[in-house]
Amino acid sequence: MSWITPLPQLAFGAGLAVLITGVAQAQMGESIERSTFGQLPDGRDVDLYRITNANGIEMRVTNYGGIIVSLRTLDAQGEFDDIVLGFDSLDGYLSDAYRKSNPYFGALIGRYGNRIAGGQFSLNGETYELATNNGPNHLHGGDKGFNRVLWQAKPFDNHEGAGLVLSYVSADGEEGYPGRLDVQVTYTLTDANELAIDYRATTSEATPVNLTQHTYFNLEGEGSGSILDHRLMINADAFTPVDETLIPTGEIRPVAGTPFDFREPTAIGARIDRGNRQLEFGQGYDHNFVLRRDSAAGDDPALAARVWEPDSGRVLEVATTESGLQFYSGNFLAGTLVGKSGESYKHRSGFALETQHFPDSPNQANFPSTILEPGETYRSRTVYTFSTRSREETGQ
Ligand code: GLA
Repeated sequence: MSWITPLPQLAFGAGLAVLITGVAQAQMGESIERSTFGQLPDGRDVDLYRITNANGIEMRVTNYGGIIVSLRTLDAQGEFDDIVLGFDSLDGYLSDAYRKSNPYFGALIGRYGNRIAGGQFSLNGETYELATNNGPNHLHGGDKGFNRVLWQAKPFDNHEGAGLVLSYVSADGEEGYPGRLDVQVTYTLTDANELAIDYRATTSEATPVNLTQHTYFNLEGEGSGSILDHRLMINADAFTPVDETLIPTGEIRPVAGTPFDFREPTAIGARIDRGNRQLEFGQGYDHNFVLRRDSAAGDDPALAARVWEPDSGRVLEVATTESGLQFYSGNFLAGTLVGKSGESYKHRSGFALETQHFPDSPNQANFPSTILEPGETYRSRTVYTFSTRSREETGQ
């Protein structure tokens, strides 16, 4: 079965006509609208979709890299702010400065989220060589990962919410990976203030797959500075320690008694600069947490993390079907990129909570497998929920 749906199918039904006007804007229903975001160097047009829900939450997504460009949510005082890092124009994502620092703002990541040691893995008796684009290792799918490809986009508006189905065919051998991979990612913005992300993939040959989303949040508003005061809870009793190149050692280490214990809400900055080998390797948090799965959740997404920002009162909750969560505290942001608000994105001014399988699984026998076989369907679902809680309500 092919996942690819051609873009011209924009209408949701009779009466919702699609008319591209002089400003290249198409009204495609109450809650989704398309405009032109820019052009790739090869001349292909890139679109931007604006999706809104009944409560005024607004998300803008481009089919370049499946990037979530902006996300406006309410704070406890009823004010909207954009809470994700990114740029207002496609050029921001194509610039040399951006590519050099490679923060993967808001993008879909594949085929393999996080690192594969030495850019190498063996499968069915064959050794595969991948790009080493992060020191000695392979990171986030290679030189041209899913964050840098143009996806086909098909908007929809149904009982669940409004959103986009993004499809991409990764050719056999692309970035060194075996098999043709047909990928489909669905973003749904619901009236319950959730952003649901559904991943599906099928392959023609056995291949590692580990898809994720690399949005950086700052719940006080992007460009507002440090995220160190955000209170974070991660529903994990253990994490996977890494070596100095951020490859897991294979150990599953209990978080108890370490700065990785986020089982009770704790400020991100409370222990980040404590003398700790693991924090030194990551220059802060850049680690995979082994999620505790609530058995009542069955196959449904289970609570992975909750973040509360005291000044704005915003709360972000993450639920997922995945077994791992990469918590990255924006350690490599260095103030070299200027974002939508005109402010530079400084050290630790955004954080990412990337739901995924464990890093380097293709080389780690004791980690859950990330190999997708022909005839199987890769499925994964993550739901981000946005709400607010004032200081009084939390008693802090
Ligand atoms: C992931 C990695 C980090 C870093 C960021 C992007 O979170 O684990 O080391 O590469 O992506 O900068």
